[in-house]
Amino acid sequence: MKVFAHRGYSGRYPENTMLAFQKAAETGCDGIELDVQLTKDGTVVVIHDESIDRTTDGAGFVKDLTYEELKEFNADAVCGGIHGFVPVPSFEEYCKWAKDQELVTNIEIKTGVYYYEGLEEKTLELVRKYGLEKKVIFSSFNHTSIIRLKELAPEIPCGALLDHPGLGNAGYYCDRYHFECYHPGVKGLTKEAVDNCRKYGILVNVWTVNDMSALEQVYEWGCDGVISNFPEVCKRWVQSK
Ligand code: G3P
Ligand code: CA
Repeated sequence: MKVFAHRGYSGRYPENTMLAFQKAAETGCDGIELDVQLTKDGTVVVIHDESIDRTTDGAGFVKDLTYEELKEFNADAVCGGIHGFVPVPSFEEYCKWAKDQELVTNIEIKTGVYYYEGLEEKTLELVRKYGLEKKVIFSSFNHTSIIRLKELAPEIPCGALLDHPGLGNAGYYCDRYHFECYHPGVKGLTKEAVDNCRKYGILVNVWTVNDMSALEQVYEWGCDGVISNFPEVCKRWVQSK
């Protein structure tokens, strides 16, 4: 079972920052999950919320800020500033770093609340520019985004993200749309759902697995990956099995 660091090592470091990604890599985890959005001037940036209020010391929406403006805010605000100044990274900065890492990147396309024009194309362009095609999975709650990415890059795996409690007959659904992976929330996930995916050859990567009982359960059910804020703990436990 693979371990993905959710927004980097977000259990201990400011989420979706290069610091959290570096610290995740040091845990020996298998992959990193991150979220991408577009700034006003069309830069793909790594940030979870549509607004910067929760995770930085600034305010406003990503879509209304240029990248030059956005990178002036401190993304360590979410940790009370204990790590000093930590900027919101561009996705290009992440790609430059990731090309030299033995990690799979699960790129969540954040088009569920605001539909950014060209986010899928721009993200793919950077993946190709840095030769990351064999080291990424595209995922989204907005399945039209991954359908579009399948049209543009059928060779790159896609994961259908579902909120709790997931989707009945998800294996069939993913197979039908040529999604290689199903990414359900852990709450409400059942063995039947995992078995259904197995029947159609669909990989199951579960989020957000932050406690031991959930980790043990999804391992027992044969899930293929967990996405966790605590990659170090998960990786150590999986290696002990
Ligand atoms: O990709 C899994 C997980 O990150 C989805 O939820 O809200 O953390 O982006 P969220
Ligand atoms: Ca995410």
